[in-house]
Amino acid sequence: MKLFLDSAKIEEITYAIEKWGIEGVTSNPKHIKNSGKTMEYFMNEVKNIVEGTDITVSVEINPHLNNAEEMLKEAEKIAGISKNFVIKIPATEEGLYALKKLSGTEIKVNATLVFNSFQALQAARMGAYYISPFLGWREERGETNINYISDIVNAVHNYGFKSQVLVAAIRNAKQITEAINAKADILTAGFEVYKNAFGTPYTKMGLEIFSEAWDAIKKQGELK
Ligand code: E4P
Repeated sequence: MKLFLDSAKIEEITYAIEKWGIEGVTSNPKHIKNSGKTMEYFMNEVKNIVEGTDITVSVEINPHLNNAEEMLKEAEKIAGISKNFVIKIPATEEGLYALKKLSGTEIKVNATLVFNSFQALQAARMGAYYISPFLGWREERGETNINYISDIVNAVHNYGFKSQVLVAAIRNAKQITEAINAKADILTAGFEVYKNAFGTPYTKMGLEIFSEAWDAIKKQGELK
């Protein structure tokens, strides 16, 4: 399974590539707004960071667009900026039509906002590179997610489609486990989600126990 960072903050992206070896970045308009920078700034900075690597950066088209031709034009424009960019197109009927039109071109698409197996299957049929179900959004709204991700993984991989299922909007270590157990190909989570997942209280407790023992061993040596 690959790990991606869900962020548009350049310092977080640089850190996560260097220290955690993340293999991809996912962004959306909300992340760019939260970074306090412009789309252009984000795209130019991230382009320089990933240039010459296999790290992909998912960049979303204007969400106001609801016509395949316009989506296509925007996708071509963004894809022209960097070879590493994967274009996020929503899994609406029109978005998936735009995806169909892009199949056979060099432009890679991340079908985003996927909430059922049909959307995932259709995205796979139309040649999506990534397919992104949003786990956290459903959980935050009280939905049961027992089969949500595994159903989508089945819809894509049962039939041998090449698309990769990228579980998005992961909020905690429990959801990371769910994505792993569902045999998803990739998961993407925010900077703080990963930070918190490193820092379980048990690891901290274990370090305290062992540090105490370590010091006691030293004292024993001094007494002899
Ligand atoms: C993934 O590709 C999306 O950018 C992301 O996970 C959306 O969720 P969020 O912005 O609510 O975390």
